Amino acid sequence: MHVAVVGAGYVGLVTGACLAHLGNSVICVDNNPAKIEGLQRGRLPIYEPGLEELVREETAAGRLYFTTDLGLGIRTSEVVFIAVGTPALPSGEPDLRYMEAVAQEIGQHLDERYRVIVNKSTVPIGSGDWVRMLIVDGAAEVAKQRLSSREVGRDPEARSLTLELSPWTPQFDVVSNPEFLREGSAIQDTFYPDRIVIGSNSPRAIEIMRQLYEPILSRQQGLGGDPVPLLVTDLASAEMIKYAANAFLATKISFINEMANICERTGADITQVAEGIGLDKRIGRAFLNAGIGWGGSCFPKDLAALIQTAADYGYEAKLLRATVEVNREQRQRLVEKLQQALKVLKGKTIGLLGLTFKPHTDDLRDAPSLTLIEQLHRLGAKVKAYDPIVSASGMREGLAHVVVETDVFRLAQDCDALVLVTEWPEFLSLDYRRIAELMRRPLLIDGRNCLDREAVRQAGITLMGVGW
Ligand SMILES: NC(=O)c1ccc[n+]([C@@H]2O[C@H](COP(=O)([O-])OP(=O)(O)OC[C@H]3O[C@@H](n4cnc5c(N)ncnc54)[C@H](O)[C@@H]3O)[C@@H](O)[C@H]2O)c1
Repeated sequence: MHVAVVGAGYVGLVTGACLAHLGNSVICVDNNPAKIEGLQRGRLPIYEPGLEELVREETAAGRLYFTTDLGLGIRTSEVVFIAVGTPALPSGEPDLRYMEAVAQEIGQHLDERYRVIVNKSTVPIGSGDWVRMLIVDGAAEVAKQRLSSREVGRDPEARSLTLELSPWTPQFDVVSNPEFLREGSAIQDTFYPDRIVIGSNSPRAIEIMRQLYEPILSRQQGLGGDPVPLLVTDLASAEMIKYAANAFLATKISFINEMANICERTGADITQVAEGIGLDKRIGRAFLNAGIGWGGSCFPKDLAALIQTAADYGYEAKLLRATVEVNREQRQRLVEKLQQALKVLKGKTIGLLGLTFKPHTDDLRDAPSLTLIEQLHRLGAKVKAYDPIVSASGMREGLAHVVVETDVFRLAQDCDALVLVTEWPEFLSLDYRRIAELMRRPLLIDGRNCLDREAVRQAGITLMGVGW
């Protein structure tokens, strides 16, 4: 199939490369010329394990192209994915201006052939119909311009009659296809999803989407494992599924963090408690790791958007508000632990192990580390950090108040405390003995409860965690 993906970010690039790998001809469109130029030369704008190789392979095979020309993407494709960003505005509402611009432009480039326009971006309930309206408006605008530039005379009546009689209306359906991939395992998640959700009331569009995803659904082309369920819903329900899934996962994390805070006060150990409740099949072990809390490009903005949508429809989402509040305070708790151990933080040096919001990504959007850096800086501490990807890549945007070190031993040098913020696998087996020797005070706060407590303590480090 011929596919266009608009927005070559974490979602668009992975979607494009994976669909190309399944044999489709994919054109990725982005309005950032530097990004596209880099991609055309094989340079990726993001870090995602396996993606660089996949993009290189599919580009060489002639199945994956990059352009800034949206018109080219639309003209050559029967399915058009929209995967542009929908970040949060200060009010919590999603900023839909990228979505709006793309939808209008799509309308301007449609011709008489039928297209499926797929919303892959996470957008508020009702956006499918809004996108349809914008596309129709975009198409009407172009039709008007064409007609007015032709010889229909100066007579306004003749002109409006010509417009009304214009035989062409764009042939398309808008489908919602929410994305559930996780940064750090995005390719695996795309080829081996738990489910694929299609929201549409058009049998024609649903059938095209089913065909596009057939290799994943019925495990063809070397993809092993069990068939993947395809859930077909109406547009609004598909849009809501994405928000509800993220709201549930974020709530599960805030729940275990609340339990951790109670454990700390009562003398119970949250890791044992999580094990005990996680074995219950109704609960499950995933997302029960107490720690510094959730962040990243999706949970914070999606929770804020859902709370805002609920409010728009006259409902106060009390549980979701509490989920957000527990998470906000959880970041503060690590600072409190440092204060407990070191008392005054002014003049102290604190080292952060990890900066990204989770391991195996370079994404710093709404990462808990950023809050920690701001709070520690405000309290007069010197903040240093080491992150396997950020340190190596030289990215420094948003990192004004932190010294980024090139290795973990330089980080440990003269630190009054280390805080493990991101559970990168390499932090599990560091030479903690050497680290203890380098530190001014051998204190480590495990903000992800991921370290071997015995091993770290035997290295001579005072270890504190979350919920024990
Ligand atoms: N990142 C994730 O893990 C993830 C997971 C599931 C869903 N989502 C959702 O997917 C959407 C995209 O997220 P992302 O993380 O890939 O964002 P991103 O910021 O990494 O990528 C968005 C891309 O869109 C491009 N863009 C913006 N306006 C454009 C335009 N007019 N024409 C062409 N390109 C344009 C930007 O240059 C950028 O490259 C969001 O709605 C997000 O909530 C993200």
